[in-house]
Amino acid sequence: MRLAFWKKSDHTAGQVDFGRLPRHIAIILDGNGRWARRRGLPRTAGHKVGAETFRTIATYCRDIGIDYLTVYAFSTENWKRPQDEVDTIMTLLKRYLLEAIETMERDNVRLNFMGDLTVLSRELQELAAQCNAISARLTGCQCNICINYGGRAEIVHAARRFAEDCAAGIAKPEELTEEHFDGYLYSAGIPSPELLIRPGGEQRLSNFLLWQCAYTEFYSTEVLWPDFSKEDLHRAIAAYQGRDRRFGGVR
Ligand code: IPE
Ligand code: IPE
Ligand code: MG
Repeated sequence: MRLAFWKKSDHTAGQVDFGRLPRHIAIILDGNGRWARRRGLPRTAGHKVGAETFRTIATYCRDIGIDYLTVYAFSTENWKRPQDEVDTIMTLLKRYLLEAIETMERDNVRLNFMGDLTVLSRELQELAAQCNAISARLTGCQCNICINYGGRAEIVHAARRFAEDCAAGIAKPEELTEEHFDGYLYSAGIPSPELLIRPGGEQRLSNFLLWQCAYTEFYSTEVLWPDFSKEDLHRAIAAYQGRDRRFGGVR
């Protein structure tokens, strides 16, 4: 019974139609650094709390029956950051994956990675592979974690693979369709997100899911990611449910 997931006193849940949820929600996990700075803490402290927030929101998405949650955790541009910040993010990722390997079976949350992982340490790549193997046995909400991910890089990577298939005689340029090209992306087989949430207040995509978000509803909130709560998720879903999605047509 879906109503069991929220208290009657929570008016934000009351605004959501739980029978008409998006199948796929994407979130740009932004605002960790500002969250820390406002508390006089190093930026890395924000990343630590942000990782906990991800756990809470991913579990809640599973509870309410969201099929796919795709999160932007580290972009192809984030390598420009100070080395100690990048190192801390990678250490947090390792800790997250180690814990996930222990808990994902119990929690029935599947993990999938999008992005070029080949530049990560061998250890991180092996942990990601273990998560993938466990996920193959599970049925719950699929969390796509985007690491070293860029929308443009994803499209170039897909184009290269298609060109290779053409050179090998497996594919033909004149037969390429949008649906066919979709199958070369990291997100192959996953429906486009209906809703993209950006905490931290910025009004841009920052190179996230450029292909997949062609008709996705965008929701930006000033709330910083470490503070993002189930109530904020309710607000975003309620806003999405109030949108008039026309897909270029008329009503
Ligand atoms: C998002 O938070 C996390 C990553 C990009 C890894 P930021 O670190 O960008 O936080 P702000 O935007 O500086 O507050
Ligand atoms: C986008 O946030 C990337 C992630 C959250 C992983 P950024 O903080 O890197 O984006 P900009 O620099 O504000 O565009
Ligand atoms: Mg940011």
